[in-house]
Amino acid sequence: MNDTIKITVIDRNDQEHILEAPTDMNMNLMEVCKSYELPVQGTCGGMALCSTCHCYVKSEHELSEMNEDEEDMLDQAFFVEENSRLGCQIQITDSLEGLIVKLAPEAE
Ligand code: FES
Repeated sequence: MNDTIKITVIDRNDQEHILEAPTDMNMNLMEVCKSYELPVQGTCGGMALCSTCHCYVKSEHELSEMNEDEEDMLDQAFFVEENSRLGCQIQITDSLEGLIVKLAPEAE
């Protein structure tokens, strides 16, 4: 059984990191980035309240719909693009195998 998927995270220096993310630990993308010590602060702990986990989804994966909290936070965030998402609202599941995301610039 395979309970990890591979995710590519492009950091703010355009460096690619290939992460192995567990699908059976109820983790989200922000937590996985932090566990690899990528520069994702996750200040609010995954409550969709800080946008320090803002990233751009570069692959064509079908992601879960945004909830209202995520939409509201992205309304206030900087550098928001069409493909912006909050990493903490992206739950790691098998269907995200091969996901590619890029970290958004830091607001300050
Ligand atoms: Fe704060 Fe995602 S960790 S919004």
